[in-house]
Amino acid sequence: MSEHFKAPRGTFDVLPDREPVRRLIANVAQRNLEAAGYGQIETPAFEDTELFARGVGESTDIVQKQMFTFEDQGGRSLTLRPEATASICRAYLEHGMQKQAQPVKLWTEGPFFRHERPQAGRYRQFTQVDAEAIGSDSPLVDAEMIIVANDILIELGVEEVRLRLGSLGTPAARSAYLDELRRYLRSREGELSDEVKNRIDVNPLRAFDADHEGTRRVMDEAPTLLERLDEADAEHFDAVRQALDRSGLVYDLDPTLVRGLDYYTRTVFEFECEQLGAQSGIGGGGRYDGLIEQLGGPPTPGCGWALGVDRIAIALNQQGRDGVRAREGVFVVTEAEGRAAALALVTELRRAGLTADLDLADRVIKGQMRQADRVGARYAVILSGGGRATLRDMSSGEEREVDPSRVVEEIGKLRSP
Ligand code: HAM
Repeated sequence: MSEHFKAPRGTFDVLPDREPVRRLIANVAQRNLEAAGYGQIETPAFEDTELFARGVGESTDIVQKQMFTFEDQGGRSLTLRPEATASICRAYLEHGMQKQAQPVKLWTEGPFFRHERPQAGRYRQFTQVDAEAIGSDSPLVDAEMIIVANDILIELGVEEVRLRLGSLGTPAARSAYLDELRRYLRSREGELSDEVKNRIDVNPLRAFDADHEGTRRVMDEAPTLLERLDEADAEHFDAVRQALDRSGLVYDLDPTLVRGLDYYTRTVFEFECEQLGAQSGIGGGGRYDGLIEQLGGPPTPGCGWALGVDRIAIALNQQGRDGVRAREGVFVVTEAEGRAAALALVTELRRAGLTADLDLADRVIKGQMRQADRVGARYAVILSGGGRATLRDMSSGEEREVDPSRVVEEIGKLRSP
């Protein structure tokens, strides 16, 4: 064969050695979310294109450039989901969840698709754990959600995580502020870098991220959106902060935090792990009080976040926190003629709830011991002629003879002394 198939650009296979850490992330997320009253929901991997166009926002990069859109055989335009929030809000409306006690708390996990330029930590198919609380505008919802996400990252042991927190207020306050910022930038145009100057109309907020010295001086004195929030929005944000402070959460107030989706109002936040470099965002979210209405429902507030499973797995890997697994299970070692007895013993051990394995590649005894070590077995059981069995502790090297008919019992005893 002259040509080999490869996984499509921007996608990757998860091989068995990388699965445990991903499963751990999902399990820890699930436990924390269910402890906080979130119920699991699954929505389709594709939806009407219009749902994302309206939900995520026509002007966003996601909708403009990154959607995997296709036509089905009936000529309908469908899109592989680039995120979960629009789908979950659609499901909330479709199933009349506004009739349930509010807020309705939902979480999901699965693959999402964005046609982005691939690089380390940025893929065209990626995995998110997503949580949404729909139907309450209480600032406690925002705080609770942030705390739960933070607790998940803490329990996983992700290090050097920074939480950035801001508020975007209402769309009206935001757009009035952007006009004011544009006017301010124009009034000091001469001091700005060319790059910032050229983007005053398109994205004046970018100026806050500039390294250029003159621009920085201008931005130090620039008005911020936080100073321009409506009274109700400012109060809401204060209450979110108070609840977070009360829980001892540490965050950086970021008056210029912007997110890549259009639906946000009021609270926005991002979790970053600096060590990951360019793609440092390991999770993010915020409040979206106008989204359900945008999708044709009654005015309904909502708040949510998504954690990036792939990036969290990379961080844990870099921090050496995903490989330290305790030795576990039993490896049964035997001469060639004892293979059938070994399989019978392995089956017995497995039925007793233990992880157990045997050699399936005709290795000699020495090779089998090496294999037992390689697979990380905690014990080896060596069956030898004459119906004898030796139990070896793979960490200490300690060995003792056991009655072959009582191996399961002996190991059970060792596991729960
Ligand atoms: P997002 O910030 O677009 O928010 O994505 C959340 C997380 O998903 C990011 O912080 C990142 O870890 C991961 N992620 C996003 N794109 C990629 C990619 N191409 N490759 C790898 N990881 C990626 C949302 O998706 C919102 N729906 C979150 C939300 C829920 N807001 C309210 N509710």
